[in-house]
Amino acid sequence: MSSTWSEMVHQPEVILVTGGAGFIGSNFLLYMVARYPTVQFINLDRLTYAGNLMNLRSIEEAPNYRFVRGDVADAPLVERLFREHGISTVVHFAAESHVDRSIMTPLSFVLTNTVGTVTLLEAARKAWGDHADPRRFRFYHISTDEVFGSLGPEGYFTEFTPYNPRSPYAASKAASDHFVRAYYYTYGLPIVISNCSNNYGPYQFPEKLIPLTILNALENRPIPIYGKGENVRDWLYVHDHCTAIERILLFGRTGQTYLVSAGYERTNLELVTQLLDLLDEELGRPAGYSRRLITFVKDRPGHDFRYALDASRLRQELGWQPAYTLEEGLRETIRWYLSHRDWLEAVTDASYRAYYEKQYVLR
Ligand code: NAD
Ligand code: DAU
Repeated sequence: MSSTWSEMVHQPEVILVTGGAGFIGSNFLLYMVARYPTVQFINLDRLTYAGNLMNLRSIEEAPNYRFVRGDVADAPLVERLFREHGISTVVHFAAESHVDRSIMTPLSFVLTNTVGTVTLLEAARKAWGDHADPRRFRFYHISTDEVFGSLGPEGYFTEFTPYNPRSPYAASKAASDHFVRAYYYTYGLPIVISNCSNNYGPYQFPEKLIPLTILNALENRPIPIYGKGENVRDWLYVHDHCTAIERILLFGRTGQTYLVSAGYERTNLELVTQLLDLLDEELGRPAGYSRRLITFVKDRPGHDFRYALDASRLRQELGWQPAYTLEEGLRETIRWYLSHRDWLEAVTDASYRAYYEKQYVLR
């Protein structure tokens, strides 16, 4: 499977983007549809609570973009899309993505994240055949650092770290990564995988730590910090993730994994404090005003202590660099949420409120 550099360059024609109405998928489509006008983009999304077509308004009329509502685990639908649109590239984002929900309803994670991924792999293999030319065909699987498990205070995950998933979400993503690699070794399907650290930025559903903190601070509601707030995450602004995906999609080596991180490790308490201080500044509130909302609550079961990634392969081999510091990314994010209150209102409907009421009762 060794290749020369020119063989590694992938030239996309028709890209099936799955989960393109979600947080990272919509940021990716907004970036790519305008940047590659001769490439066709088909967005397949089931529009779960996390998917929202409002995110994609500015491209919905673009001639190189089309939306299809459907489930990645629906084999007849997926096979028809490959046939009818001549799909030559897949960028697979669609997933159930929230760890807390996976603790409550693990099966839906297996169905979408694992069965859905295998359904797409099968459709790609049927459409492209065994040992498809990687210049024309590529299956790009978007994955997470959570597949590697939990780090202690020292060390980093690398592309060689053994898998050790510890939540139902992480287990379902780990299984999907294994299937993607199995299709490379067994059928020569031209695949590439990236495992990324925690993203934040515009269009993130306010169940994840950063948008939840912004929303609750705006509403003067308690900001729940699990345990003592000592768990560490490695934060990446979503636009930087999109530029990394673009590079890996076009220039990544077939069969390889790339880790994506900007190296901004923070404890949850440090991160939330910095975020609240920046928010107070943007709102013209007195310094430290929102810190009083921080509320320590019962810990997440099996809460991974620390994630930290070594992204040297991506930086050295593909020349990727993040464009945003953590402070710049957080400011951009705060400004986006402050100027998109209509979006926040639309996504925090009755079912969102019911989910949160249940979360609070469980604690
Ligand atoms: P998200 O929850 O915001 O969006 C997921 C999207 O997938 C939604 O639009 C949803 O409607 C769609 N979807 C869910 N089930 C589907 C199904 N069965 N068929 C079709 N569409 C379906 O997720 P996100 O945060 O944008 O994450 C995208 C991908 O990136 C996921 O694979 C996730 O594992 C991975 N990832 C996320 C992060 C992060 O910090 N958010 C970090 C690393 C990797
Ligand atoms: O690391 C990549 C992963 O990052 C992605 O694969 C997942 O899809 C994404 O959801 C995210 O997972 P986390 O569990 O790390 O993200 P979350 O925003 O839920 O939590 C971040 C940290 O903050 C985590 O240590 C738990 C903690 N937390 C979270 C919430 C929602 C709190 O302390 N309070 C909260 O209310």
